[in-house]
Amino acid sequence: MVRKGTVDGFGPLFEPVSIGGVQMQNRIAMAPIRTGGLVNPDGSLTQRCIDYYLERARGGAGLIITGCTRVENTVERLPGPTPPGFEAMASYGELAESLHHYGAKVFVQLTAGLGRVLPPDFIDTVNTPVSSSVLPVFWKGSIMTRELTADEIQAIVQAFGEVAGRLARVGVDGIELHGHEGYLFDQFATAVWNRRTDRYGGSVEGRLRFAVEVLNAVKKEAGADFPVVYQFGLKHYMSGRSPGPWSGILPGESGEEAGRDVMEGLEMARHLEKAGFDALQIDAGCFESRYWAHPPVYQEHACMVDLAAKTKAVVDVPVIAVGRLDIPEAAEDVLARRQADIIALGRGLLADPHWPMKVRSGGRSRIRPCIGCHYCLRRISQDRKPLSCAVNPACGRERLQSAGYVRSVKNVMVIGGGIGGMEAARTVASRGHHVELYETASQIGGHLLPAAVPTPRGSPSCAGWR
Ligand SMILES: Cc1cc2nc3c(=O)[nH]c(=O)nc-3n(C[C@H](O)[C@H](O)[C@H](O)COP(=O)(O)O)c2cc1C
Ligand code: SF4
Repeated sequence: MVRKGTVDGFGPLFEPVSIGGVQMQNRIAMAPIRTGGLVNPDGSLTQRCIDYYLERARGGAGLIITGCTRVENTVERLPGPTPPGFEAMASYGELAESLHHYGAKVFVQLTAGLGRVLPPDFIDTVNTPVSSSVLPVFWKGSIMTRELTADEIQAIVQAFGEVAGRLARVGVDGIELHGHEGYLFDQFATAVWNRRTDRYGGSVEGRLRFAVEVLNAVKKEAGADFPVVYQFGLKHYMSGRSPGPWSGILPGESGEEAGRDVMEGLEMARHLEKAGFDALQIDAGCFESRYWAHPPVYQEHACMVDLAAKTKAVVDVPVIAVGRLDIPEAAEDVLARRQADIIALGRGLLADPHWPMKVRSGGRSRIRPCIGCHYCLRRISQDRKPLSCAVNPACGRERLQSAGYVRSVKNVMVIGGGIGGMEAARTVASRGHHVELYETASQIGGHLLPAAVPTPRGSPSCAGWR
């Protein structure tokens, strides 16, 4: 394990770093997490949503990347919140102002759309799903997408520029484009899904033209110095043997890559840097191999860092690594070994929004760990409930559950060390009472104990949209 002392003595996580002209106070970013149920129908953020991000900024994250947001609803018509228009901007302004108060920067993640991976319960509400080419819909192969026309692509490009311009004017610091996981940008970027013969297909340059045109539109509307990050998977881990749901290549398995492989990923990285992107976030996987894009408990910590390191070797712009980096020593190691410039934490910050502060102040043992159960994902996708976390019920309800200190201290006895008992004891103790927790079993934890045990692949805990 490499550990290096740094300028302020807090370790490599707490060195400042810049994306374009935007300086982060440390190298810890919050990875984009879709805030299902916390966005109003007009695309504005609810106060609950702002409070949720605010808690992660208060906990010390240097950059908050918001969950993905759509920019248009004319070409790809979907149910759900509309893209954020003028009326929604006040909430984004409030978000930026609140996060800046704690020294955090905010980038809004924007998506081109779903294309062939629109969820099963949307399929019947959409006339004809769209994509880069005519493709079977992932969840219902009997339905085919239709190929977007060049005019429709232009309409999406323009919408990106308009939304980004508005966000920049209300104080948002930058944009991340969601080019990952087989969504619409990725359907354009990947040969197996892009069979176009016009200028948006063919070579890597042609397949990335859509993303690069979006970059140029954003810079035109938001300013040349407004940073734009591109997030993509360097490798898809899609099995050539049996392409289909849950057929991805797992660690230790060999298999012919049916999607993007590393060599082409690196060519993309070089091209994106040359085109003017200010940073690259390196992931892996797609819907066919979601064990990478959404690594469950049986994936190693830092499971995608090798891909970030390969990218860092070929570009000069900052590289953001992601994927089970919530063990502080693992995150520090990535930076100390110069495998990436910034580490992004997704679920680690749902489970414990104060992870950065605890690491900085010597409180690592008090970090509440993410158990990799994917209840958070299930809530927002299958259950369509507001975002929350199995081990942190205050997640998504920060204001409601914020504990005020009490005037008269009581002695409280909590019977039962399961999830409810532990949370009751923790909450009561955090308000200043004396608590004793009683449990007959030899270990506290209740249902969390089996929930934290690895599950076989394809099980409901990692089933995503299913
Ligand atoms: C509930 C949930 C929602 C997510 N939403 C998004 C999203 O909107 N955009 C995105 O690029 N990734 C999304 N992700 C993936 C995360 O950004 C991250 O890449 C992944 O969780 C792995 O990082 P972690 O191990 O630190 O959680 C989501 C993940 C979860 C669990
Ligand atoms: S719900 Fe489970 S996977 Fe999601 S953040 Fe919480 S502990 Fe981690």
